[in-house]
Amino acid sequence: MQPEDKKRIAAAAAIEYVEPDSIIGVGTGSTVNHFIDSLALKMGARIKAAVSSSEASTERLRGHGIKVVDLNEVGRLDLYVDGADESNSQLQLIKGGGGALTREKIVAAASDRFVCIADDSKLVQILGAFPLPVEVIPMARELVAGELRALGADPRLRNGTVTDNGNQILDLHGLEISDALELETRINQITGVVCVGLFAQRPADVLILGTDQGIVSYTAD
Ligand code: 5RP
Repeated sequence: MQPEDKKRIAAAAAIEYVEPDSIIGVGTGSTVNHFIDSLALKMGARIKAAVSSSEASTERLRGHGIKVVDLNEVGRLDLYVDGADESNSQLQLIKGGGGALTREKIVAAASDRFVCIADDSKLVQILGAFPLPVEVIPMARELVAGELRALGADPRLRNGTVTDNGNQILDLHGLEISDALELETRINQITGVVCVGLFAQRPADVLILGTDQGIVSYTAD
């Protein structure tokens, strides 16, 4: 099965977590695009609204006629569905390949259940082969880069990318992340960092992978 088909079946499987009349959180990326398309097809007008993690997802949701509301209007959410760049067996994630990490982290933090959807290439033993994204305030970029080098990372500016929040992204190469919780805390403490794309303090609750054998679901161990 092609990776795109694996993403599609994982996305379709997440629909069973969506309750009628609910307001759900929606992430960003190619896997989530399949989820949005499935959501429109299978639930359509039966969901009340969505809280979106990016301008791109907002546009796609609205294109399907799904209402998008501000998180501040709704408070907590029952469900958040999003993709990932990597997951370990504890369902700690690297996210932000699409640059939407900060809003994704906010919506995940506001949600009681986080269902992560991906193709099976995303499940890894040790996080870090995928460069870890860090959103930074532009004027602090070099200051932050120096601090990140001191942590053993090789930060590289994602050229030409401005986030939905008007910031820049440093992608951290060369990390083998054995303690994701600790690294998330340390990077969060650097002045000028808006957000790091490590989801360890708030990991996924369920991981749905599309594989050659069909769907495989995990809960954190
Ligand atoms: C966007 C993300 C995405 O969830 C992540 O990059 C996975 O994307 P895709 O579903 O296209 O593989 O974190 O910021």
